[in-house]
Amino acid sequence: MKVLVTGAGGLIGQALVRAGATGLTHKQLDITDQGALAELLDAGPNCVINAAAQAGVDKAEQQPERTEAVNHHAVAALARACQQRGIRLVHIGTDYSLNSDADLVPEMTPAPVGVYATSKSRGEQAAAAHGAVVVRVQWVYHPDHTGFFARTLAALAQGRTVSLVTDQVGTPTPADLVARGLLMAAAGTQTGLFHLACLGETTPWGWIEAAAQQLHLPFSARPITRADLGGAPRPARSVLNSDRFLAAFTGAPGSDGEGLVLPRWDVALGDVLEG
Ligand SMILES: NC(=O)c1ccc[n+]([C@@H]2O[C@H](COP(=O)([O-])OP(=O)(O)OC[C@H]3O[C@@H](n4cnc5c(N)ncnc54)[C@H](OP(=O)(O)O)[C@@H]3O)[C@@H](O)[C@H]2O)c1
Repeated sequence: MKVLVTGAGGLIGQALVRAGATGLTHKQLDITDQGALAELLDAGPNCVINAAAQAGVDKAEQQPERTEAVNHHAVAALARACQQRGIRLVHIGTDYSLNSDADLVPEMTPAPVGVYATSKSRGEQAAAAHGAVVVRVQWVYHPDHTGFFARTLAALAQGRTVSLVTDQVGTPTPADLVARGLLMAAAGTQTGLFHLACLGETTPWGWIEAAAQQLHLPFSARPITRADLGGAPRPARSVLNSDRFLAAFTGAPGSDGEGLVLPRWDVALGDVLEG
């Protein structure tokens, strides 16, 4: 099966390429360019995984038009174009589309808060309406990617004190596990909304503390709240329930031919850091 990945230079895009998919970076394909998209789709991939997004939650507040163009309008056009050609589309969604202290299931009514979440939610709805698979993920990380996780651990390794949020709860999930799941969704047949994350829950504080302990790094941290961060609104608790995903796709052949086991977040973290 030929799987094409858009946004292949990003955190999840890179993981998909490591897992064997063919990737196009932002430079190689801008998903807002409908002519370029049509040309690509006419070349006949079996499946497209859209990992392209304006994924900066705070940046979105400063760039609402670009965020809406990439995360909503381009996704709607991509989904329509894939549906017209019979190409399966797997689109990556976000826990931020929902807003509930209860574990998040795909049946919940969207309740996004902020520019990023609203644009993503609109994109998810448009993609699902055009027959795509939408897989919502959360707190995705890879130790080599220059995101919050790697940046914070690098600062601790340099002996610096870091500020960590203590009033936000979620589930860290390794990018390579997400990529395996997305490839399973690509190989499956069901469409609609799904969730994919590790089990259990923690705060950014608990996450980094566990990683520092595992790596024998000094843990010098100051507790802060989401309000101290400023920027875009962030949910207090957002924990994805992956039952529907597991029921739909773990029987499908994945990239490694094995089923997908969702470990607890701290077990997955240990495995990732052991490398
Ligand atoms: N990481 C998480 O914890 C997380 C959580 C929930 C949902 N998600 C979703 O997962 C998906 C992938 O996110 P990520 O974490 O991998 O983000 P990322 O590292 O920022 O990757 C996104 C990629 O998309 C590219 N891009 C931006 N605009 C584009 C456009 N118009 N055309 C083509 N490519 C474009 C970016 O390139 P530039 O850098 O050049 O802009 C970047 O390489 C997104 O839909 C995001 O909303 C991620």
